[in-house]
Amino acid sequence: MNRQENQERAVFSSKFAAVATTVGSAVGLGNIWRFPYEAGVHGGGAFLICYIAFVFMIGVPVLCAEFAMGRATRSNIFGAYRSLQPHQPWYLAGYIGILASLLILSFYSVVAGWTIEYCLSSLTGSLDFSDREVGHEQFMQLTTGWRPVMWTVIFLFCNFFILIGGVTKGIERACNVLMPLLFILLIAFCINSFTMPKFKEGVEFLFKPDFSKITPSVLLGALGQAFFSLSLGLGCMMTYASYFSNRTRLARTAVSTVMLDSMVAILSGVIIFPAVFSFGISPEAGPTLVFEVLPFIFSQLPGGAAWSTLFFLLLFLASLTSTVSMSEISITYFCEEKKMTRKKALFLSSGIALCGGLLCALSFGPLSDVTVFGLTFFNLFDYFSSNICLPLGGMICSVFVAWFMKRNLLEQQLTNFGKYKFSIIYILVFFLRYICPTAIFLIFLNSIGIL
Ligand code: TRP
Repeated sequence: MNRQENQERAVFSSKFAAVATTVGSAVGLGNIWRFPYEAGVHGGGAFLICYIAFVFMIGVPVLCAEFAMGRATRSNIFGAYRSLQPHQPWYLAGYIGILASLLILSFYSVVAGWTIEYCLSSLTGSLDFSDREVGHEQFMQLTTGWRPVMWTVIFLFCNFFILIGGVTKGIERACNVLMPLLFILLIAFCINSFTMPKFKEGVEFLFKPDFSKITPSVLLGALGQAFFSLSLGLGCMMTYASYFSNRTRLARTAVSTVMLDSMVAILSGVIIFPAVFSFGISPEAGPTLVFEVLPFIFSQLPGGAAWSTLFFLLLFLASLTSTVSMSEISITYFCEEKKMTRKKALFLSSGIALCGGLLCALSFGPLSDVTVFGLTFFNLFDYFSSNICLPLGGMICSVFVAWFMKRNLLEQQLTNFGKYKFSIIYILVFFLRYICPTAIFLIFLNSIGIL
């Protein structure tokens, strides 16, 4: 991206970079940590099928909508709504984006902190892979005291460091190299999964849907996960699209992002579940699941600690490319709407995330008894942002683009100013007008028990 001094907006330098950064934002802990734990809690196959349906029926259209808004206005989420409909309060949706992105950044940094801990412990050989009990003990030790606080702070510092380097040097370069590498490693682990004694049970759990298990909470969980994983609903993709060049094809980028993102999530499920069954761990373990299971997988491999180090290193980097995109939401807001310098904006958003991060990090240890609505800070931040703010933000965006954005403006964006044909625009608008908002609304009503 070339950031010029005269405050002109940056533009990603190539089409590949546009896809790589978007996928870099989408692929992260959401796929590798959150997807398997949510699938585990919500019954495996039933969850997967809802997730896939939402990703394609709601994810693709909303992603196109965010892209179109972002590139048409070349602005942050507030600016985008305001410049398209200046006299209406749509821009208030921006507050949902800012609030939720900071909440997500808080708990996400804690989990990313665990990845640093695991990476270093595997490197120094202090991670003991010998048996289940030991693994569990270790996880508890590593995540319940004050150590996670330190890692959270360190992670946020890394995030800060990349962001301060501006977008070219930091985000773009890192994504171009790391994302393909992570993908290759995942495929290798996935192949290794075939050797697990309970491979069949694991795969059946993930792929065989038991339709009777589809409950309101499974639907809401899958919807939240679809939005979370695609970084949708908060204007994150809108902000990234504001950096796309006019040659980038939006719908194509959206479909590639969705395919790659779901593929990573499914690969991660294929890696985790056979191991979960083989080692006799409950798939319903929740947020700790992946961290308890992965070390066992590595223990089975020759040179286990080396694989483990590499994997957690890449996971840490994948998290960074996601948190960088999350931070961009509030940073562009503070810069462009509040006229702060980029540095000041960066300090402010990192400071807020730090405070939230401390609450989340301590909620596994010293603050584990402090609950709000029966949830610890960590779970509360996750539930509130993923299951409420993201779908709500996505619903507002789809209604806005389909009903209130000028149709020719949308067409211009999707066809790159008439250069390409985009004949399914009517279907897209139909989905954005009716299907997406209605589906999201019904799932909400359903999950709060009204329906
Ligand atoms: N999609 C990322 C993941 O799966 C997380 C993420 C990045 C995100 N930016 C976001 C989630 C914006 C919601 C909104 O790990």
